[in-house]
Amino acid sequence: MINFPPELITYLKKATRVVVLTGAGVSQESGLSTFRDAQSGLWAQYRPEDLATPRAFARDPKLVWDWYAHRRESAKGASPNLGHYALVEMENRISEFTLITQNVDGLHRIAGSKNILELHGNILNVRCSECGMFADNWEDDLESVPRCEKCNALLRPDVVWFEESLPREQLDAAVSATRACQIFFSIGTSGVVQPAAALAHAAKAEGAVVVEVNAEPTPLTARADFAFHGKSGEILPELVKAVWG
Ligand code: APR
Repeated sequence: MINFPPELITYLKKATRVVVLTGAGVSQESGLSTFRDAQSGLWAQYRPEDLATPRAFARDPKLVWDWYAHRRESAKGASPNLGHYALVEMENRISEFTLITQNVDGLHRIAGSKNILELHGNILNVRCSECGMFADNWEDDLESVPRCEKCNALLRPDVVWFEESLPREQLDAAVSATRACQIFFSIGTSGVVQPAAALAHAAKAEGAVVVEVNAEPTPLTARADFAFHGKSGEILPELVKAVWG
């Protein structure tokens, strides 16, 4: 049983504008790998520059396509965990609640979260690498990467690769919600990938209370008003219970 500081409980009871930023750690208890965990993290097994950049796709589109197809199957096979559901609970009790996620697995939406900003795209979606048209269906086990029905260019996963910019609308909405929030949660993210990692610091600069929930300390820990180190699927349900019973 976690003893949450009474001030945090009071802040949450009174708050009307809350922003939550999530990362791969929130989906770890759903069986999905994070990126930077020492052994199990994807980037411990693969080099991001081989798989998650436009140059990697240009160099070997089939390698990149198959890797994302494999991750897409994992995401489809995963279910939300108690951490995802606790965030749905929070959204139901706070009038202006914004969930900003770096995750491409779509689990927040499946859990029932509504006001979601997917900063890094969604692996369940596929679009044309040239004209941008989304594909409703495609074949995964072809010899080569499937092509766009409209312009015949290669299809690609609708995720943001390194060296690519984030979707403008989502980023602008994330920045304005962050600037206006009273409480900013950073959950299950190592806080090293920009621009998402800058949001918590922007919230702090605007006077928001910053809360970190992560399995281990991060560069944000020293600046957070409250930091809880452990599993989000265990900590978040307890926090919701402590605040709203
Ligand atoms: N509960 C809470 N935190 C957890 C859990 C858990 N069950 N399991 C792991 N963590 C923490 C890890 O300690 C780590 O600090 O989650 C964090 C995950 O960090 P990363 O693997 O770096 O993932 P993330 O921060 O989401 O990465 C950001 O980088 O690779 C790119 O585009 C990719 O969106 C991703 C971005």
